[in-house]
Amino acid sequence: MHLYVAMWICGTLLALLLGWQQRKCWRLIWQLNGWRGVAQQPILWFLLCINLHPNSILDRVTQLRVYFKRPLAILIGTRVLVYIDDPAGMECILNAPECLDKTFMQEGFFARRGLLHARGQKWKLRRKQLNPAFSHNIVTSFFDVFNAVGNQMIEQFSQQPDLNGNAVKFTDAEDMLSRAVLEVSCLTIMGTPTNFTQTDDAHIATSYKRLLEISAIRVVKPWLQIDMLHRLLAPQLYAEAEKCNELLVDFVANIVQTKHRNWQLRNANGNGEGNGMETSSSSHWQRRIFIEQIFQLAANGELTLQEIEDEAQSMVLVSFETVSNSIMTALLCLATNKGECQRRLRKEIGRVFPQPANPEAYVGLEQLQQLRYLDAFVNESLRLLATVPMNLRHVSRDFQLAGRKAIVPRNSIIVLDTFNMQRDEDWWGENAKEFDPQRFLDHEQPDDSTADNDVRTEMPLKTKSNQQQQKRRHSYSFLPFSKGLRSCIGRRYGFFIMKVFLVKLITAFEFDSDFQLEQLQFVENISLKFNNVNDIFIQIQPIQNKKTNL
Ligand code: HEM
Ligand SMILES: *[C@@H]1O[C@H](CO)[C@@H](O)[C@H](O)[C@H]1NC(C)=O
Ligand SMILES: *[C@@H]1O[C@H](CO)[C@@H](O)[C@H](O)[C@H]1NC(C)=O
Ligand SMILES: *[C@@H]1O[C@H](CO)[C@@H](O)[C@H](O)[C@H]1NC(C)=O
Repeated sequence: MHLYVAMWICGTLLALLLGWQQRKCWRLIWQLNGWRGVAQQPILWFLLCINLHPNSILDRVTQLRVYFKRPLAILIGTRVLVYIDDPAGMECILNAPECLDKTFMQEGFFARRGLLHARGQKWKLRRKQLNPAFSHNIVTSFFDVFNAVGNQMIEQFSQQPDLNGNAVKFTDAEDMLSRAVLEVSCLTIMGTPTNFTQTDDAHIATSYKRLLEISAIRVVKPWLQIDMLHRLLAPQLYAEAEKCNELLVDFVANIVQTKHRNWQLRNANGNGEGNGMETSSSSHWQRRIFIEQIFQLAANGELTLQEIEDEAQSMVLVSFETVSNSIMTALLCLATNKGECQRRLRKEIGRVFPQPANPEAYVGLEQLQQLRYLDAFVNESLRLLATVPMNLRHVSRDFQLAGRKAIVPRNSIIVLDTFNMQRDEDWWGENAKEFDPQRFLDHEQPDDSTADNDVRTEMPLKTKSNQQQQKRRHSYSFLPFSKGLRSCIGRRYGFFIMKVFLVKLITAFEFDSDFQLEQLQFVENISLKFNNVNDIFIQIQPIQNKKTNL
């Protein structure tokens, strides 16, 4: 009897304690969604439990979000998860000093000891240290690399036996392209030539991809971040992750250590910084490379060699994956779009570059600035198929959601659903889910269009309501590189390499596909992937051959 009472008291105390811990969470749920928000919690828990896998979570969120009032708050233990998919909410979170950190879920990443995952003061300092390495001048100096590797990539594509009208598997094209992008990353970040565009016998590129996929699992299933549990519950996956991780750590560590020795030698001989060294143009270029710049920080005692390895690792990983993915999704949009898009792109490129068209022609910043339609095309593909579909943030202090009475408590998890926001009719009009680069040009009218007569005359007339919809567009409704304090440091780099590669590809080949964008099944594997990727085939037809047919 006594035991029963004691248990009852204990239980009540525990319940009270939990309730006390959760009070701010319930208050937020109440403030955001009222009674409905409180009542629907069990439904949300259930939905969350049955959908916790990278392969299904994005699709499910897309289907189910419309049934709930957003921003949506879900109680998880003693924390609350806040789901945001509107531009005003994004603006508030991305600029709030309370939301700068990443969540414990992202600890599941491999190669997480870089800027991307740094927290608090460490992030602030690191971002300040690294910003100069991505300045406009430095990134512009990479055009030589983008062009040289881009030309090799075109050659690789041309050598494919399957070309000439036969359909190439999307994944095969992706493999070729991503090896070229990895080569660029290794060159610009670590200043090291590789032959990845030609061969990748050590499977470095695939290991990077695989590691990111496994990271995705550990993000949605955070318990796998505990080594012991991971080993126990998913031994195969664990072994695979260890193998990939080891391979890549060695790969980067070797390069960084060699480079560092050379750097020290060079500086010892050359009387330190500046002076006599700058006469040689190759060393001038070397100086602009990412790790060369941070070696200087190491020499000043601001960074250790280990930290440099970590930064380089993380930079290569993020730049390689996001860029190759973005280019592939752009190509997919191009190939599936039966309309004017490809013809207009080719026409615009034809106006800027000398004829006859040559894919090896140097693509510089000056040329890119004249390619307005290409810009709109790249933006539209990044809008429709956001490479980084979702971002997570950790709340480090209680703060108020702008424009609402709601207080978001400390330790909450914020989910920013860029993917669905960028495809939402509310912000992008009725044709939000269609691929239509013109929408970015319409948006600029009337001040900017006079410069480009061609685009203007070809522009189909839009309905009035559509035009008005575009005018009202919120500046945070398009966030492929995020915005605010923790936005992408490689934004310029990403845009430039995408455009250089695309210009070369479009000049060399014609792309076509019977696949339709509506058929895509989306997967959140940190970057956007497609579940039915094996159903996608692309015809890649060399342009020269076509000309002779005419
Ligand atoms: C088209 C290509 C790219 C896309 C779509 C992209 C997208 C993004 C996004 C959405 C974020 C914010 C992540 C978050 O808030 O959780 C981010 C951050 C970041 N990106 Fe990119 N990125 C691209 C290319 C690059 C490149 C080429 C580099 C490096 C050379 C790079 C380096 C970084 C770094 C270091 C961060 C973390 C910044 C910080 O936390 O302060 N990205 N990127
Ligand atoms: C790349 O290939 C060239 C010739 O094909 C070779 O000379 C060079 O050593 C290779 N470089 C690397 C890093 O494997
Ligand atoms: C494309 O997006 C970038 C970045 O948001 C912007 O600066 C540029 O003006 C956009 N281009 C067009 C044609 O809207
Ligand atoms: C996404 O990652 C999971 C987990 O590793 C993997 O099984 C799946 O094949 C990946 N999906 C795609 C489409 O890449």
